[in-house]
Amino acid sequence: MRTDRWTPASWRDRHAEQLPCYPDVAALDEATRQLSACPPLVFAGEARGLKADLGRVSRGEAFLLQGGDCAESFSEFRADTIRDNLRVLLQMAIVLTWGGGLPVVKVGRMAGQFAKPRSRAMETRDGQQLPSYRGDIINDFAFEANARQPDPQRMLQAYHQSASTLNLLRAFAQGGYADLHKVHGWTLDFVKGSAQEARYRMLADEISRALRFMQACGLESARTPQLSEVDLYTSHEALLLPYEEALTRVDSLTGDWYDCSAHMLWIGDRTRQLDGAHVHFLSGVGNPIGLKCGPTITVDELLHLIDRLNPKNEAGRLTLISRMGDERVRALLPPLVRAVQREGRHVVWSCDPMHGNTHTSSTGYKTRDVQRILAEVTGFLDVCRAEGAHPGGIHLELTGHDVTECIGGSQAIDDKALADRYETLCDPRLNATQALELAFLLSERLSAMHG
Ligand code: PEP
Ligand code: CO
Repeated sequence: MRTDRWTPASWRDRHAEQLPCYPDVAALDEATRQLSACPPLVFAGEARGLKADLGRVSRGEAFLLQGGDCAESFSEFRADTIRDNLRVLLQMAIVLTWGGGLPVVKVGRMAGQFAKPRSRAMETRDGQQLPSYRGDIINDFAFEANARQPDPQRMLQAYHQSASTLNLLRAFAQGGYADLHKVHGWTLDFVKGSAQEARYRMLADEISRALRFMQACGLESARTPQLSEVDLYTSHEALLLPYEEALTRVDSLTGDWYDCSAHMLWIGDRTRQLDGAHVHFLSGVGNPIGLKCGPTITVDELLHLIDRLNPKNEAGRLTLISRMGDERVRALLPPLVRAVQREGRHVVWSCDPMHGNTHTSSTGYKTRDVQRILAEVTGFLDVCRAEGAHPGGIHLELTGHDVTECIGGSQAIDDKALADRYETLCDPRLNATQALELAFLLSERLSAMHG
């Protein structure tokens, strides 16, 4: 029977889009039972820390940088992949801190970003039809009947991989790897080798001078944790509800429920139905949450979703992630921002310039053009400024590796070059160079906005 009281399991009475159909219900129950006995991956206090940071973003006192893989994978699980993704995020954060003149809140799409919504439930190849690949936490990418069968034990593998990833991230964040001087040193190396060296050098040199000044004033890394350590938070799409339910725990300090699979969880553009299971589930946890807002969302829907997800109008609770596409952002975003401003709702506005800008290359690859990504971010900044809202952040799919999945950038990757190192199982990611270039260009625009 459907009740109105929220529990971690009450989403089961609602309609859920995008969930896999597990053939063996007993095996699913066994997997979630095992997961429920596993320790939480993050702690409620940390999630509250992120909520407070995002509260600052919503007031225009900080900027949010959220990024990482489209989907993490079991086969690509290596320490250097995690390290390289973190490095590019840290580099981008410094460049953006400079341009925006604001602290940057760093949130990885990491340590749990495994489940993928799909536009089609089935995939057909050479006349054979099999369930679509839904991410390694659900099934296997190989186009074989067995591999594509959803397997609940994969949730345990995803959990353990997330635990190891978090362990490494925590070590990097606190153990000296994230030192400001070191991270900036890598950026100087990047600038030296870049085809756009002249353009980036000025900004990089200004940061170098600021660091020398701070050092001269006695602010040394060894004695200043703000220079040698970072706060790094984790996030993923809360898609696979049996997994999220199993990791949802009562916080002993407040007595509130928290989804302890990540600090921040978001609702995808395909699962944001007002009466649906995903919105219901996240409405009951205390974490900061995100909501993807694609081209079909209406003002009315958005306001109802805000009522449902942030009834107390808490700053930092809700991040609205606009993903309209470069051609539509200037038309579709203004009425949404205006309505939210008019109603006095405290939200973070963030821009995902990836998911509305996907196309198929002439060589048959799913790709994105760096020019269009930048155009959407620029449109987003302009809309926010025109409406008097703080452009709070960006949400990116990126990797620290030198892949060729998105076209454009100073490496001039074209349709032909996509074949060289196209490694993603899902969406095309910015490579390290493209991501850092985007940070430089965005930094220029942010600093122009501050005048
Ligand atoms: C994603 O962020 O990977 C994603 C699927 O986004 P969206 O829900 O906005 O399509
Ligand atoms: Co994606």
